[in-house]
Amino acid sequence: MKDCIATAISAPNIAFIKYWGNRDQHLRLPANGSISMNLGGLESHTQVTFDPALRADRLVLNGLEFNGQPLQRVSAFLEIVRGMSGTSTFVRVDSSNNFPTGTGIASSASGFAALSLAAAAAAGLTLDQRQLSRLARRGSGSACRSIPGGFVEWFAGENDETSFAQSIAPHEHWALNDCVAIVSREHKPVGSGEGHTLADTSPFQKVRVDDAPRRLDICRRAILERDFEALAEIAELDSNLMHAAIMTSSPPVLYWQPATVGVMRAVQEWRKKGTPVFFTIDAGPNVHVICPSAYTSQVTSQLNTIPGVKETLCAPVGGPARLG
Ligand code: DP6
Repeated sequence: MKDCIATAISAPNIAFIKYWGNRDQHLRLPANGSISMNLGGLESHTQVTFDPALRADRLVLNGLEFNGQPLQRVSAFLEIVRGMSGTSTFVRVDSSNNFPTGTGIASSASGFAALSLAAAAAAGLTLDQRQLSRLARRGSGSACRSIPGGFVEWFAGENDETSFAQSIAPHEHWALNDCVAIVSREHKPVGSGEGHTLADTSPFQKVRVDDAPRRLDICRRAILERDFEALAEIAELDSNLMHAAIMTSSPPVLYWQPATVGVMRAVQEWRKKGTPVFFTIDAGPNVHVICPSAYTSQVTSQLNTIPGVKETLCAPVGGPARLG
């Protein structure tokens, strides 16, 4: 093994067309393609060390050593990297995020994207962006979208080779901002990992998946043409479709709090009155409110007046994963 230590930095992302449900849970081949934007200024820093002295993998997240399920997930991922590079050496992973957990910003996306890049580099593998994206997908589906920069599409694909993400436009293409309205920091009742396994139990999932190519086309075109109104409509529809499937799965899950709905209503009202703004919600109660950067301070101060909004966290469009 040439280099045995490497550090990588990666941004989380917010999806406008959501990934929900897998055709192949083990390979993380998604039920449908998805489109997202990376969140700039928010970062996971991950250092990977292949250390012959270790008797097992070790995982340190934000300064705390983790065992159990989080370590097992990282170890299973590292097994893939070990298989690719023909080594059996155990690894120490040291990762930290500069954004707080419980904000509705998935740290698994940026964490596994940074881990993929750092682990591949430390193992001496030379992977192109497509191969890195495929590798990141095995750790966390949405992580494959944090490898390329800016606005990104993940092609559902047919198999491991064809399911990867690629940039639609670089971050400087369109100055949008994500203002996350935080209504709760409590732990989610059902994580997205478990949620994906429930997706097919909803009668809405098939409808959502069958219609995905149409929504992807509209979303991709809206981004390329910087058509805010078209992006707003398709992203809100897509978010509502995902939550319709989530609310009608067996068992059903309701992620929204009263303040979640308060923000959704307010955002739609502001848009009707002429402010370019829309919402999208991941598997949690916090609301991602997207607007052109010029409207960030107006939208942030309006969000902060809504009952139940504890605080807002803002991010512009971010770049690709990079070595540190
Ligand atoms: C609602 O990528 O977190 O944020 O593959 O199990 O790690 P795993 O799931 P994850 O799911 C993301 C779900 C979502 C929608 C999205 O980001 O597309």
